[in-house]
Amino acid sequence: MPLLDVCFTPELIHLYELKGRVVVVVDILRATSSMVTGLAHGLEKIIPVSTLAECQEWAKHGYLTAAERDGQKAEGFDLGNSPFSYMEDFVKGKTLAMTTTNGTHAIRLSEAADQVVVGAFLNVSSVAAYLAKQQKDVLVVCAGWKGKFNLEDTLFAGALAHKLQGSFTFENDATLASSHLYAAAQNDLMHFLSTASHVQRLQNLHIIKDIAFCLQPDVYDIVPILEGDFLVPYTPESVKNLA
Ligand code: MLT
Repeated sequence: MPLLDVCFTPELIHLYELKGRVVVVVDILRATSSMVTGLAHGLEKIIPVSTLAECQEWAKHGYLTAAERDGQKAEGFDLGNSPFSYMEDFVKGKTLAMTTTNGTHAIRLSEAADQVVVGAFLNVSSVAAYLAKQQKDVLVVCAGWKGKFNLEDTLFAGALAHKLQGSFTFENDATLASSHLYAAAQNDLMHFLSTASHVQRLQNLHIIKDIAFCLQPDVYDIVPILEGDFLVPYTPESVKNLA
């Protein structure tokens, strides 16, 4: 039976073997939620980058750009990191270069894996179905906040563990802890997260509706997968073809 493990922050990723594994990168508030939303609303592909300068570079190729730092949209870029701006018609068929405080860097740190997948509550069941089909060891990499643990990403890891229970072995206590946390939170994620640091940070920035949107399960049936530099969408049909 394949193994399921959880890395609580990118600062710990050096402790894990990525080769031979599928890595699921998660940044619930809000990077991976926005990526899933954008690709589900017709973005063709996304280039996740770590720095503002790299992102600006891609604008020269005529790509859309998105940049967020400390929860706020960075000056001089087309988009910030609100999933609602990724639903606009103008994103359809476009390529987006994207940089955020934590999520995009976590994706780049995971590149040595056999496959990098983007997870969010918005597509949690599609991700679970994809992983069950792959039958490979899995590592969930939580983007956290500037190297520190955060609750919402860990709850996603717990939700995934609940869905994969019985078909994956929980490798370490990180998966167990995530699963127990999710068991405690699953009936009211919003309430459970009401005092979480990034929820507070976003609320202080008057960013409210993004939080509720990003906590909804299974709004989209899509699995973004890293192919070279690009995140591209795989729908269940294409996921089936991968097996
Ligand atoms: C991040 O990368 O840390 C987040 O996505 C930040 C945010 O969007 O608020």
